[in-house]
Amino acid sequence: MHIGILTGGGDCPGLNAVIRAVTLALGNECGARVTGIRRGFLGLITRDAVPLGADTVAGILAQGGTILGTHNKADPFHYFGAGGADVSDQALAYARELGLDGLVAIGGDGTMAIAHKIAAKGLPVVGVPKTIDNDLCHTDRSFGFDSAVAVVAEALDRLETTARSHGRVMIAETMGRYAGWIALEGGMAGAADVILLPERPYSLHAVVEHCRQREAREGYTLICVAEGAREIGGGLTVARTIADSPDPLRLGGVGAVLMQQLQPLLRSEVRATLLGHVQRGGSPTAFDRVLATRFGWHAAQLVRRGDWDRMVTLQGSDIASVPLAEVAGRNRPVPGDHPLLAAAAGLGVLLG
Ligand code: F6P
Repeated sequence: MHIGILTGGGDCPGLNAVIRAVTLALGNECGARVTGIRRGFLGLITRDAVPLGADTVAGILAQGGTILGTHNKADPFHYFGAGGADVSDQALAYARELGLDGLVAIGGDGTMAIAHKIAAKGLPVVGVPKTIDNDLCHTDRSFGFDSAVAVVAEALDRLETTARSHGRVMIAETMGRYAGWIALEGGMAGAADVILLPERPYSLHAVVEHCRQREAREGYTLICVAEGAREIGGGLTVARTIADSPDPLRLGGVGAVLMQQLQPLLRSEVRATLLGHVQRGGSPTAFDRVLATRFGWHAAQLVRRGDWDRMVTLQGSDIASVPLAEVAGRNRPVPGDHPLLAAAAGLGVLLG
């Protein structure tokens, strides 16, 4: 058996742990050959692949990023390098030339959508959910999320000491696209006083009142705002548009907008920190290393059983799988009845 593996979309801590687990499990358990496709689906289009083995994956478990590289625009069905043309036949011809019996695609909703279309054209695929945003359907966790939350928590710890020293309002803006998972868990882990999520448009008046009360009592306020958060009746804050990307909008800047809104209404000085790609870089947490390794091993089992066109998932504490069609191009917001929302509200955290 000969299996290809690729990492698509934005990078995230734990990708190398999956590559390692898939390579070792397929090699040890059934003597399969594994080939890494470089830079996501781009490598299938540009014929860029590299053999993987126990030697090449040694020492990569704790490394951030991806040894295979990635690309967030490389869609063979709409290829930016050919004016948006469908070059999927060319990509599949290269896979056949390599002698691939199947592909393990590690990525987010965009990668899963492409993987599902590739599978329909004859190259069997197994998907592994990756995103720091934790917004993929049917999996309680994607690896990378825990690492991002740890970064947010540490940032808030640091912002708290300087906020308290100066009597300031400190705003930390997290990633997460249209879902508030990182801001919610990161904000709770870092004791934020206000957590603003895309799922609950905020009242500026309520935020001002909360900060004023804290000005009088504690003397400082920590605000954790998701990049997709918006004021009631307001729009998203878009940082840039990436032409040819499956999801062209890049959100960012709502923290700075909120700072401008709050400053004239408060006595305290207000500062905003954009956490940005720091949340996505670096070594995975131990939780993400274990989750990524479990996902990788289970993906190898699906491959061995010929259980194709599925994505591995975490449901509770168990690893399971769902059809790719059920996750492709969809995402998962924080539900209104999430227990952490009730806990946050009970602790006096303002949630919009
Ligand atoms: O989906 C992961 C993510 O990091 C989002 O949280 C963020 O909005 C986006 O990717 C940033 O993308 P880019 O790296 O293209 O700026």
